[in-house]
Formats: sequence, structure tokens, C-alpha cells
Amino acid sequence: MGGWTAAGKGLLIAFLLAFTAAISPSASAASTKKAKGSDSPPLMLQLPIDTGRRDPSSVVFPIYGDVYPHGLYYVAMSIGDPPKPYFLDIDTGSDLTWLQCDAPCVRCSKGPHPWYRPTRNKLVPCRDPLCAALHVGTIHDENCDQCDYQIQYEDRGSSLGVLISDAFNLRLINTTVVRPVFAFGCGYDQQFAIQNAPTPTDGLLGLGTGKISVLSQLSDQGVTKNVMGHCLGGKGGGYLFFGDDFVPTSRMTWAPMSRSRNYYSPGPANLYWGTRSLGVNQMEVVFDTGSTFTYFGFQPYQAFLSAVKSDLSKKPLKEEFDDPTLPVCWKGPKAFKSVKDVKKYFKTLALNFVNGNRALLEVPPENYLIITKHGNACLGILNGTEAGLNKDLNIIGDISMQDRMVVYDNERQHIGWVQIGCDRLPKPGASSR
Ligand SMILES: *[C@@H]1O[C@H](CO)[C@@H](O)[C@H](O)[C@H]1NC(C)=O
Ligand SMILES: *[C@@H]1O[C@H](CO)[C@@H](O)[C@H](O)[C@H]1NC(C)=O
Repeated sequence: MGGWTAAGKGLLIAFLLAFTAAISPSASAASTKKAKGSDSPPLMLQLPIDTGRRDPSSVVFPIYGDVYPHGLYYVAMSIGDPPKPYFLDIDTGSDLTWLQCDAPCVRCSKGPHPWYRPTRNKLVPCRDPLCAALHVGTIHDENCDQCDYQIQYEDRGSSLGVLISDAFNLRLINTTVVRPVFAFGCGYDQQFAIQNAPTPTDGLLGLGTGKISVLSQLSDQGVTKNVMGHCLGGKGGGYLFFGDDFVPTSRMTWAPMSRSRNYYSPGPANLYWGTRSLGVNQMEVVFDTGSTFTYFGFQPYQAFLSAVKSDLSKKPLKEEFDDPTLPVCWKGPKAFKSVKDVKKYFKTLALNFVNGNRALLEVPPENYLIITKHGNACLGILNGTEAGLNKDLNIIGDISMQDRMVVYDNERQHIGWVQIGCDRLPKPGASSR
């Protein structure tokens, strides 16, 4: 897809910028400013038949995309009234869902579908708890006209807009269709890593731990439990689910969720190369589907890279400096076709989480190497310091989560994973919670 290369796709861990004044440019003010929030619909679940509170169910979305060459995974969702389809980049590293929005739009890219068109009665009022949740830690004026937001991602991309609410269609696993209303961003001013290029998605699906994330909203409304999981296929595709019906009852490795960050993190880990310790202890990692690749901080990256290079010094692989795909690549006597061709030269990297039962996350060569279209093997674990990341941040990106189910259980406050094929959904109902 045009201009969207694996290397160009960055990290989608977001932090909200502090801002106070009205930030919407006059272009958007014309269409959104006049509406006072009071006529916004209350955020409530609209079920076909309302017989009171019922057991939460589950919902599954097929995942599209891959690590290479597309560099992202996304889902399709039907939003609005009448519902229209949108492709949304799945991002466990940030909370707010947003769509490119014709409010009118100041800066939007050409996406796969027409931009979302808001109506005035869709504005979320400033005094709505979800608006406050969006501005947690920043100055928030409850008397403002509209709930503005600005979100900036680690790759320097950003979205600016206003919080609105609308219904979206969800087919529960028992085939009943519900139309819950949820709050998301109408993004009328975006900056992307690559400007002026078409984007493969219409927006972003915020799956983080915050109140505003789509999962928190669904569980607050009783539609699903506050549990989700994803399976990113190594050959592309896979699935995303909300609810706990698809969580396997056996074979899962669980680690307690760390409370030290607002990201999904199993806490600090020790790093191993094969069975050998790399002398890196207490490295904090976060799971971020919004990042195509994995990023290590200064010390872990250095330890990892020198271990790889020292192993390869006696092997028939030569470092290749002319592959533009990624910074560190090797070539062989002839072009490689798949990771299988080089697997024997590389060891499995392992993260041993120190909290709880000392869970182990194994990262075999398939989960940190890609074979480029030039036939070279390149490292998909990148130098976080060079990428300008916060010094202590280590990001487990898509490449290292492929071909396993990763479960984020916010009810029991733990994160789990299991090796599994992502082309077929496990049977629901196996969960005995
Ligand atoms: C599916 O589950 C929902 C929510 O629990 C319930 O309201 C609905 O009646 C169920 N539908 C079927 C077909 O069983
Ligand atoms: C990672 O990037 C930083 C900043 O550019 C650099 O100082 C460091 O040497 C790099 N690490 C390795 C192992 O190349």
C-alpha cells in the first residue's frame, strides 16, 4: 500500500498533551462549536430487546494486515447511523479510538473509506466523565463548549479533534447484534510519519488500559467482560476478541499486570540469549500492537546486538548495509526465501518476568527477523534510543507477538500468552471462570 512501508510505520504509544484553550481551528469551529454538549445522547447500551442486565458476551473481529510488507494489523468496524465500514489500526499502546473526520477536515489523508461525518448532536459534553478521563493528568475545563483532544504518538504522528459518541454494530458470538454507543475522537487534523501519502486505515482503535478505551467502555456498559485478546498471524491475518469466552483454560502462561505504567506491561524481566543470561535485569517491557517492530532501550539493545553479531562471526552470513528496509541486515550465499533458511544461525531470545510465577516469553527467530524482498534477513528488534524513545521503555511490537494468542485480563489484572495458530478461532465456552 502506497508509501506505507514496514520501516515507515512507527510506534503508536500515545501520551496526551496538556492543553487548555480551545484548539480547534476556525474551519472546524464552524461545524462543531455551536452545539452545546447538553443535547448529546447519554452513553448507554441500546439492545434490541431490553430485559435488564444480562451476562456479558464476547465479540470477535477478523484481523487484516501483516508485519511485512504492510507493517500494520487492523480490523474493520461498522460505525454510525446508518453504519458505515472503517478500517482501524489496532493499538494496545493508546486509549483513544479516533476516525479521520470531515468536521470539515483540516488535514486528513486519503484512507480506504470516505471520512466520518459527525453531526452536532454527537458531541460529548465536557462534563461527561469520559471527557474527564480523556484529560486525566491535564487541566480540564468542565465548562468548555466541546471536548477537544490532541494526541501525540511516539513516532511523532498526531491526531487533533473533538470527542463524539456514536453507535457501532457488534455481532456477539451468539449471533445477536447489539448497537452500543461509544465515545471516540473525530480527528480533523492528523500528522503522519509520512505526509501526504494515502493511509491503509481510516483511524485507530484504542485498546489501552484507560477509561476511554473501547474495551473499558464496552465492559462498563456490560456488553463484554474487561478482557481481550489477539492473535496476529505470522503470514498475516488473525483475530481480535473482547470478552473471555475464547481464553484457553490450559497452557496459558500468565504474568501479573504491572501497575507502574499506564500501558500493558507484565513488569520487569531478565533477558536471555538461548540459555545464557545477557546480564540485563529489570527491563520494563510493554505490549504494543501499534508498533510493527520491537524496540529495546540502550543496554538491552547493545547486549542483544553484540550477542547476535558474535554468534554470526563464524557463520556464512555477511552484514548487508544496502538494504533500506531495516537498519541491521545480513545476506547469505544466495537470497533467503523465509526465516526457515536462516533460523539455524540464530538463537531464541527469552524474557523472564520476575513478578508472579516468573513467566517466560520466548522470542524465536521468527519473532524478531524478517526476510526482505531483497532476500536479506533483517533484525526486527530495533534501537529504541535511536528512535528517540524514553530511555527505560522496551516495546514488544507485532513481530514478537505473532503466532500466539496474547490475552489482557483487566478483571484479574494479568497478561497471558500461548503459542497457537492464528488462522482458526478456538472454540468458545472452554473458559470456566
Ligand atoms: C445472546 O446474548 C445476549 C446477551 O447476553 C442476549 O441478550 C441474547 O438474547 C442472546 N441471543 C441468543 C440468540 O441467544
Ligand atoms: C543505539 O542508538 C544510540 C543513539 O543513537 C547509540 O548511541 C547507540 O550506540 C546505539 N546502540 C547500538 C548497539 O548500536
